[in-house]
Amino acid sequence: MDMQRLATDFAGIKMATPVMGASGTFGFGVEYSDFLDLNHVGAIISKGITPLPRAGNDGVRIAETPSGMLNCIGLENPGIDVFLRDILPKVRKTAPGTTFIANFSGSSVEDYGMMAEKLDVDGVDGIEVNISCPNVKEGGIVFGTDPKAAAAVTEMVKTHTSKPVIVKLSPNVTDITVMAKAVEAAGADAVALINTLTGMVIDINSWKPLLGNVTGGLSGPAVKPIAVRMVYQVANAVKIPILGLGGIATAEDAIEFLLAGASAVAVGAENFVHPDAVVKVAEGIDTYLEKRGLKNVSELVGKVKIN
Ligand SMILES: Cc1cc2nc3c(=O)[nH]c(=O)nc-3n(C[C@H](O)[C@H](O)[C@H](O)COP(=O)(O)O)c2cc1C
Repeated sequence: MDMQRLATDFAGIKMATPVMGASGTFGFGVEYSDFLDLNHVGAIISKGITPLPRAGNDGVRIAETPSGMLNCIGLENPGIDVFLRDILPKVRKTAPGTTFIANFSGSSVEDYGMMAEKLDVDGVDGIEVNISCPNVKEGGIVFGTDPKAAAAVTEMVKTHTSKPVIVKLSPNVTDITVMAKAVEAAGADAVALINTLTGMVIDINSWKPLLGNVTGGLSGPAVKPIAVRMVYQVANAVKIPILGLGGIATAEDAIEFLLAGASAVAVGAENFVHPDAVVKVAEGIDTYLEKRGLKNVSELVGKVKIN
């Protein structure tokens, strides 16, 4: 890989490549060290961290679909204090050179401010604010579907951190550009899209929903065209950079997002199929750039030809 061709500055966050491991599918990054070279990972985006430890939802949490998966994990995580005390030092020891982005959420606007302040520490290179988790009863999705609430969370986070702030948007809205514009106006440094699309599976033998939470979030190849369309729309609506994700499995998938207007991408569900996917996608982008004589991945961003 030509690291100069892939070097990316995403909203002031410097990365070796434009390809990150998506929140909730890449652990805290270190779990993947047997499968790939963490120095070739653009950024590790952590599992969603919450103010207190969470056990997640009861019952079945994963259901496969013909072209993707539904999950209703329910933000299982050890909580911010254990993250800062035990996990972050381990990440920094195992992957000292890898960019690390902490994904988090809260149940109130105040929670988001408190979390941003606690995460304003060395070793965290940027923060991703999850206002779009469809699988928890309190908070999460509420902030992700109301532009005023999304703006309030963004403003609160911005006043409590010195880190670049990425706000992760929900696709479960009528017009995602309204949400993107609201968080941009509130000071977000970047947006990430998409989180999962709410779905449901029913067991026809028991007549019960398959998932313990009744509904879950759909991700994987099935959501990719929707995600690319949303990235394209948001790229035409805001000036801040976009982290594009949703169904990326190959370099070709990632390149579509870049052409649509994403400055960087993340691989989610595909990590469960191919745990080296984040690096393989970066390698494929590099080969594509080389073949076309392009010097840096930024030359692809937003270059889709309309007309
Ligand atoms: C099992 C699982 C857990 C997830 N957990 C989180 C999370 O904690 N925080 C978050 O912002 N997104 C979470 N996501 C959403 C992903 O980061 C990503 O936005 C979504 O899955 C779409 O990308 P994909 O189709 O490549 O998986 C999770 C997704 C999956 C599949």
